[in-house]
Amino acid sequence: MSRMPLRFKLTLAFTGVMAVLLAIAGFALSLLVAQNLDSTIDDGLAARARDAAAVVDGQALASTGEPYAQVLNMDGSVGSTTTGAGERPLITPAEVEQARTGDVIVEHRRGSEDLRLLARPVRSDFRPAILVVGESLAQRERALGSLHALLLVGGPLALLIASAIGYAIASAALRPVERMRRHAEAVTAAQTSERLPVPPGNDEIARLGRTLNEMLARLEVAFKRERAFVSDASHELRTPLAILRTELELALRGEHTREELEDALRSAAEESERLSQLADDLLVIARSDQGRLPVRPELIDAGEMLTRVAGRFRTRARAEGRPLAPDPSPGVQLSADPARMEQALANLVDNALHHGQGTVHLSAQEVDGRIELHVRDEGTGFPPDFLPRAFERFTRADEARTRGGTGLGLAIASAIAIAHGGSAHAVNRKTGADVWISVPSHL
Ligand SMILES: Nc1ncnc2c1ncn2[C@@H]1O[C@H](COP(=O)(O)OP(=O)(O)OP(=O)(O)O)[C@@H](O)[C@H]1O
Ligand SMILES: [Mg+2]
Repeated sequence: MSRMPLRFKLTLAFTGVMAVLLAIAGFALSLLVAQNLDSTIDDGLAARARDAAAVVDGQALASTGEPYAQVLNMDGSVGSTTTGAGERPLITPAEVEQARTGDVIVEHRRGSEDLRLLARPVRSDFRPAILVVGESLAQRERALGSLHALLLVGGPLALLIASAIGYAIASAALRPVERMRRHAEAVTAAQTSERLPVPPGNDEIARLGRTLNEMLARLEVAFKRERAFVSDASHELRTPLAILRTELELALRGEHTREELEDALRSAAEESERLSQLADDLLVIARSDQGRLPVRPELIDAGEMLTRVAGRFRTRARAEGRPLAPDPSPGVQLSADPARMEQALANLVDNALHHGQGTVHLSAQEVDGRIELHVRDEGTGFPPDFLPRAFERFTRADEARTRGGTGLGLAIASAIAIAHGGSAHAVNRKTGADVWISVPSHL
C-alpha cells in the first residue's frame, strides 16, 4: 500500500466512499419508490372496497367489473365472487379472523400472479361478512424492476466516471510535484543555481515550491560564501608563506654574518606569528559560521574591560605617539565571554591605531537595555562607499593591501557580537570613525 502512487491511493479512497454512498442512495431510493407504489395501490384498494361494499348486499358482485373481489362468510367460505377471483377464497381463514375487527392488507400469489389484497368487515344480507378486493402487483414489479435495472447500470457507470475524473484531478494536482522532484534530483553542489519549477497560483504545492526555492537560494548564498571564504583564506595564507620561504632561502644561500642570520630568523618568526594569528582568526570565523563559536559568559565591569584592552596596546600606542583614552564607565556591567569580547575590542583598537589618527577613545554605555562598547578615533573615518561592506570578510578599503591587513578584524568583531546575541556597527562622526559592539546586558 505504501509503495502505491498517491494518485492511486486518493482515487481508491474516493471510489470506495463513493461506492458506499451510491449503494446507500440506491437502496433508499428503491425502498422509497416501493413504499410509494404500495401506498398508491392501497389508496386504490380502499376506494374500490368502498364502492364494492355498496353492492355487496345485492350479491351482485360479478356485475361490478372488479377483477378480484370476494365476499367471504365469517367461517372463511366464499359467499360470492367475481370470475377473476375464482371459487377459492382469496385469503386464509386466519386472515378472515384478523379482518373481523378492521382492514387487513396481505399479499398472496394466485396462479401466476402476485396480488395485494384488502380485507374489510362488511354486512352482507344483514350478516357480518368480509369483503376482499385485490390488485395485481405486476405493474409494481415492473416499475421496481426497471428502477433496479437503472440503478444497477447507472450506479457503476456513475462510479466509473467519478473515479476517472477523480484520478485525472489527482494526477493533474500531483504532476507539478513530480516535476519538482525530477528537478530536485538535478540539484548538485556544482549546480547550485538550479531552481525547482513552481506551478502558478498560491496552493499548497506552489507554496511548497517557493519555500524550497527560497531554501535553495539560501543554500546557494551559503555555498558561494563558503567557497569564497576558502579561496580568500588560501590566498591570504599564500602571501606570508611566500615571504617566509624567501627569507629562509635567502638565509641559506651564500655567506652571512651572525647578525644577518638573526635578522632573517627574527623576520621569519614574525611572519610565522602572523600566520598563526591568521589561522586563529580563520578558526573563529569558521566556527561562528557553524554557530559553534563558544561563549562562556561572565558578569563583567565594562570600564575595567576597556582599561584592560587599552593596557594591551599601551606600548604600541606610546611608540606611535597615539593617546589611548579608556572611559571608566562606572556602573556599566554586562554578561559576556571576557576573552572573546576583549578580542573583538582589540580588533577595533587595532583598527583605530592602524587606520585612524589622534586619540583612541574607548567607552561603554547602556542604551535601551543593551550595552554599547564604542571605539572612536580622530582620523578621516571609513570611505563612505566602503562603509556598508566594512564587516564583510577579507574586505578592506585599501584593496592594494599596502597597509598589510587581511580584512578579517571587523568580521571577527561582528561574529563575536552575533555569538553574544548582539551586533556590530560603524559610522563616520565629524571627529572620525566610531565603531561599536551592541550586546544585550544579560545573556
Ligand atoms: N577606524 C577606522 N578608520 C578608518 N578605516 C577603518 C577603520 N577601521 C577599519 N577601517 C577600514 O575597514 C577595513 C576593514 O577592517 P578590518 O579590521 O576588517 O581589516 P584590516 O584592519 O584591514 O585587517 P585585519 O584583519 O588585520 O584587521 C580596513 O582595511 C580599513 O580600510
Ligand atoms: Mg583590522
